Amino acid sequence: MKMPSAFSSRLVRGTGEVSLVTGNRATPRLPYPDGWYAVAFRDELPAGRVLTRRLTGEDVVLYRTRSGLVRAVRPFCPHLGAHLGHGGRVDGENIVCPFHHFAFSPSGDCVRTGCGTPPPRARLMMLEVREVDGAILVWHHSRGLSPGWKVPSSFPLGFQPAGHVVHTLVDHPQDVMENTIDSGHCPPVHQMNIDISRTHFSGPTMEVDFSTTPLQGHRTGFLVSLQAHFRLQLHGLGWLFVRVDIPSIQSHIHFWILPTPIDPLHVELRLAASIDHAGGIDLPPPASRLIGKLLVPLISRDLAKDFPIWQHKTYVEQPKLTKGDGPFMQYRRWAGQFYSESIP
Ligand code: FES
Ligand SMILES: [Fe+2]
Repeated sequence: MKMPSAFSSRLVRGTGEVSLVTGNRATPRLPYPDGWYAVAFRDELPAGRVLTRRLTGEDVVLYRTRSGLVRAVRPFCPHLGAHLGHGGRVDGENIVCPFHHFAFSPSGDCVRTGCGTPPPRARLMMLEVREVDGAILVWHHSRGLSPGWKVPSSFPLGFQPAGHVVHTLVDHPQDVMENTIDSGHCPPVHQMNIDISRTHFSGPTMEVDFSTTPLQGHRTGFLVSLQAHFRLQLHGLGWLFVRVDIPSIQSHIHFWILPTPIDPLHVELRLAASIDHAGGIDLPPPASRLIGKLLVPLISRDLAKDFPIWQHKTYVEQPKLTKGDGPFMQYRRWAGQFYSESIP
């Protein structure tokens, strides 16, 4: 397929659906925020697989060893610069470079050459990587500092998203997350009223609770067609976990919205969903997986109502707010902690 240009496309993949929407922005809204960003889901990286993903303008090579360790490394082999994501393979616990077959252990050290000579003192450049709720997260810090905080699992017992999709669009993680407190856009864009009952800011975490009621006389999206209570948890600007409680059908839905800056202008927005309780009963795992998968396109359709606006908007540093607009400035003060690059 022909892409219009590097800075004007939206590609939707993950459900077999592919579409393009043009955008016209060419100026980054804000620098890259520091934090944990999702680059894949667990089912995309089984043991033995090597994947290349983009994060903050650079390639990241991900692989899972035969015993199940996940590693994220910079792509270039320290021997003579081959890209490990193009022909690199997992051999037991090592990743093997395609060019001269040097092998690197899970600690990044070169442990073998392709011709049996002693390995040089050489290392791959390792990135911090974690798996949380079935998502694979890589740490980015613009000054190269180690992680100062973690994203906690929402399901420590291992319950995971049943399905997921990724949208690539012109946007910035801070703008995506700002939606969580932007109550004013909900009636015009999502055909619902929201009533924020609580916001809480603590270190890298922000929580928001709100209830929704559909606008009378409008066709609404799936999630807003019923009265629901939402509890949102952000950990940095790359992780949003949402619990939705829908009393009228006695159901609990969970979804994750994970915006990852892939270059100065674009995010990959990963959306995942699951359900564990419906019609007043705890769902058995097969039903939970099946319904969870069906939820992804429904939630995605609601979320996508924002996309045309997100893709073309600009960042207004001093917005002219009105009553009922939500706690924008509190949110932005909280978000400010994630920038070690100065905001122009
Ligand atoms: S470039 Fe990787 S082994 Fe030579
Ligand atoms: Fe929205």
